[in-house]
Amino acid sequence: MTQALRVEDLHVHYGTIHAIQGVTFSVDQGEVVSIVGSNGAGKSTIMWSLTGVAERSSGTVEIFGEPLPAKPHDIVNRGVALVPERRRLFSALTVQENLIMGGYRRARDERMEADLERCFQLFPILKQRLKQRAGTLSGGEQQMLAISRALMSDPRILLLDEPSLGLAPIVVDTLMETILRIRSEGMTILLVEQNATQALEISDRGYILEVGRFLKEGPGVALAQDPEVRRAYLGG
Ligand SMILES: Nc1ncnc2c1ncn2[C@@H]1O[C@H](COP(=O)(O)OP(=O)(O)OP(=O)(O)O)[C@@H](O)[C@H]1O
Ligand SMILES: [Mg+2]
Repeated sequence: MTQALRVEDLHVHYGTIHAIQGVTFSVDQGEVVSIVGSNGAGKSTIMWSLTGVAERSSGTVEIFGEPLPAKPHDIVNRGVALVPERRRLFSALTVQENLIMGGYRRARDERMEADLERCFQLFPILKQRLKQRAGTLSGGEQQMLAISRALMSDPRILLLDEPSLGLAPIVVDTLMETILRIRSEGMTILLVEQNATQALEISDRGYILEVGRFLKEGPGVALAQDPEVRRAYLGG
């Protein structure tokens, strides 16, 4: 199995704060892997370091067997797409304009039309809302758009930073099913979540992050049922 992502002994500092204190993990091609942890554990910092936004103090990151480039733009071109925490849509722009922005690195070619079609198949509602401003969509629709925008860059690995944040439980269920559907079409997915149970249940493997370090790792379902993990993260 080809490794999509390999992170070894990653450290990240913000000034004197040692936010990531030596984490090692990997994502195989076609896997869904989740990193779960509470507020401030460092989940977003890991995502930012994988997209060139947070600087690594030390450690190595390989993407599809090659060193991760330093610049965000080059990282996108290598096939890494981030769906950021709180979506970060262009709220004054329409759904259509947000999708086109997601595909900006490519010319407006036939592939782009095909990718748009793929988004509409995943999320038919978006096709009906093309001219609507992103800021006026519901929370669930905004998350669909954020994921679609990331897919428009035609990534090989999708990074999802707390996609369930602020969504009603039923919308979260749909979202988790969608993640599995995207995976079934061949995508590799790294998911970070505070919503530990559901994230772990849909993941091949998971890692429990506790202030900058991994506490445990294992198969997703086993971690979701682990008594220690349940006590600490899943409310019993
Ligand atoms: N730009 C920054 N400058 C200084 N400290 C930061 C910065 N960004 C994050 N931190 C700190 O790094 C730690 C990890 O933050 P991070 O945002 O990665 O956590 P998180 O797990 O994503 O949390 P949440 O679930 O609330 O999104 C926190 O203590 C946070 O205050
Ligand atoms: Mg975060």
